[in-house]
Amino acid sequence: YKLKVIECDTYESLSKNAAMMIVQQIAEKPDSVLGLSTGGTPVGMYKELIKLYRSNQVNFEKVRTFNLDEYVGLDRYHPQSYHQYMYQHLFKHVNLPENQRFIPLGDMDLIESEVNDYEEKILKNGGIDLQILGIGENGHIGFNEPFTPFNQSVHTVKLAESTRRANAKYFSSIEEVPRIAITMGIDTIMRSQKIVLLISGNRKKEAFQKLMSSHISEEFPASILRLHRDVTVIVDQDALFES
Ligand code: GLP
Repeated sequence: YKLKVIECDTYESLSKNAAMMIVQQIAEKPDSVLGLSTGGTPVGMYKELIKLYRSNQVNFEKVRTFNLDEYVGLDRYHPQSYHQYMYQHLFKHVNLPENQRFIPLGDMDLIESEVNDYEEKILKNGGIDLQILGIGENGHIGFNEPFTPFNQSVHTVKLAESTRRANAKYFSSIEEVPRIAITMGIDTIMRSQKIVLLISGNRKKEAFQKLMSSHISEEFPASILRLHRDVTVIVDQDALFES
């Protein structure tokens, strides 16, 4: 299949495009199941979504959301947990009912049961209609690091040192960055009806190039997306060319 690519001049325009795809999805199916992602890249998309919500262009009342991943062993009230991220960047601003928002629980003592429970919850809700993804510099999607088997569903992972370094900027030191995470697997992600992948900024240039040119291999997890029939890649200028 061919990846659809939308090139945007700016990060702002990437964010607007991504938000519009969510709005469209919800307009077509008000009880859509959305797969959501965190990190620096989708911050602008969430801002746009909040604006669109405030101007009555989208209604989250019947929507259900499933986040891709969460750190393991980080308190859910820790400012860098993805629970907090979602609350601050989206949930506290919109009318998405609390019992329709799902994020994997990263509590150390629950983790074994959570791996199965989370996958089951996704299935029970009918699977994901639209999955938003970012990409790591090493091609990871969710927290599926290079060499994660493509057939895995929800699972725990040991984070790559490069991923911990890349995320250290959000913590006071690299020591504080968790070593383990729980994530939807590649198989979970590939079962989504539609996928939107956001690629922004200089540091993602190489990842974008590899995505477009390299063959499909577990060495570069995002390469699997070429086997999905409905993927839209939204990329900004900084990730496209030398600047
Ligand atoms: C993180 C997250 C991913 C995210 C990626 C890129 O580690 N687990 O879901 O897409 O890395 O993050 P950023 O957008 O901050 O570069």
